[in-house]
Amino acid sequence: MAMTADGKIATANRAVASFGSMRDREHLLELRATADAVMAGARTVDSAPINLGPGPAKFRRLRLRGGLAEYNLRIIVSGSGLVNPKAEIFKRRFSPIIILTTGRASKANLRHLRAVADEVKVFGRREINFRAALRWLREKWGVNRLLCEGGGELNDALFRAGLVDELHLTVCPKIFGGHHAPTTADGHGFSCLAAAARFRLKTIRHVSNELFAVFISA
Ligand SMILES: NC(=O)c1ccc[n+]([C@@H]2O[C@H](COP(=O)([O-])OP(=O)(O)OC[C@H]3O[C@@H](n4cnc5c(N)ncnc54)[C@H](OP(=O)(O)O)[C@@H]3O)[C@@H](O)[C@H]2O)c1
Repeated sequence: MAMTADGKIATANRAVASFGSMRDREHLLELRATADAVMAGARTVDSAPINLGPGPAKFRRLRLRGGLAEYNLRIIVSGSGLVNPKAEIFKRRFSPIIILTTGRASKANLRHLRAVADEVKVFGRREINFRAALRWLREKWGVNRLLCEGGGELNDALFRAGLVDELHLTVCPKIFGGHHAPTTADGHGFSCLAAAARFRLKTIRHVSNELFAVFISA
């Protein structure tokens, strides 16, 4: 996640979500080059022209050298099954697109999703059961390493499920402010200190004006 110095991942009006440097963008592609699949929440996929793909040939070569498929799988999470079928991600068909949804998705929504995705799978009644979903992704699609690229609501669900092994944060020298600006983890959150997801710092480095931190689950 790229975040401002005040912890925001987009402006309150959601108009700006891309604000890191070229180095941060490259860092994102390097991370994608280590993962079998890249995942994002429905509001992230809807709100920006992203395709969750591996990017230029040098990153695809990196994947192949690391023993991964040339193109990563792409996963979208939507409990309601409401994903814009015209979103950029559906325009590029270089690798399978899997949608994880819940019993809240109507029959009509499921039909619409099945028309644009390679597989649509229901996990849980109202919220995705991520533990079961990740097990299925490993068994059916061979996903051993999954990179989640947000947004804040999806991240929160993964933190609460205790499924985040590593957290890569880029701190950018900007302040967005605003009560309603999304952060690295929104959603329900944790209600007490004892329950909070805990990490320890693995590495930190700065490149120009940005900090690149990696935390691992404690
Ligand atoms: N700076 C960065 O690095 C970065 C990275 C990613 C995103 N962003 C920005 O963050 C904003 C989006 O963040 P967001 O928090 O609003 O949205 P989000 O996490 O991308 O997507 C939220 C949606 O995902 C689904 N979802 C999440 N957790 C779920 C669960 N446990 N069970 C079922 N469904 C679940 C729901 O879809 P349904 O409503 O369809 O049920 C929910 O509305 C955008 O402005 C984006 O550009 C910034």
